[in-house]
Amino acid sequence: MAKGATSRVDRLLSALGYGSRREMARLAAAGGIVLDGVALRDVTGRIALTPDLPARMVVMGAPLDPLPGLVILMHKPLGVTCSHKEEGPLVYDLLPRRWRGRDPMISTVGRLDKQTSGLLLLTDDGDLLHRVISPKVALPKTYRAVLARPLRGEEGAVFASGQMILEGEAKPLAPAVLEVVSEREALLTVTEGRYHQVRRMFAAVGNHVEALHRERLGGLRLPEGMEPGAWRLLEAAEIGTIFAEG
Ligand code: URA
Repeated sequence: MAKGATSRVDRLLSALGYGSRREMARLAAAGGIVLDGVALRDVTGRIALTPDLPARMVVMGAPLDPLPGLVILMHKPLGVTCSHKEEGPLVYDLLPRRWRGRDPMISTVGRLDKQTSGLLLLTDDGDLLHRVISPKVALPKTYRAVLARPLRGEEGAVFASGQMILEGEAKPLAPAVLEVVSEREALLTVTEGRYHQVRRMFAAVGNHVEALHRERLGGLRLPEGMEPGAWRLLEAAEIGTIFAEG
């Protein structure tokens, strides 16, 4: 959000998913919008979109939802899909229901497969989203893979070669780093985000990924003890650390 930005109160609340502008006028008339402890009756006035606004405004008895420009760090659980429209449980179902009505809408920053767990970012900031997934930025992403078969020993060199070509593709993969944890477990750090990339890389060396979990994205790590399905908003200072070396 631009510094010094302002918005009409009814437009802001409507964009945050609280309801139509007409409904916001009715809510204000009923005393349902409170600013700095005083009921706000006129929602057609403009308000400064400062970071402290959610702490100063109470809507229907609860603090105002986060302003546009939010970034969510989630521990994506298994079995939910990174999609707005597919059938079945979606990552968005883990967020407050009202947030589905936000404009700009919240989207996942890239995707994790339904059967991949771990660190997932979601944001309504399109510029940030594009920077994080940009091939030019090439942020490292570290996955923990549990494999069906023991590692043979040559996989690290193949992945690091910069010459590996996945089935159905023409462009070689950028070099990736393999750290062996045990016979059937490894950490793999990639800087691209190709379709099912990690599973296809292990398939190409004759293995099969049985479980996949993302531990790191750029400078962010999944916080210890964060349960699957849990999430929190990133502070402004933490957002910059996405682009720092982790
Ligand atoms: N690679 C995969 O195969 N799946 C993911 O979800 C992420 C990376």
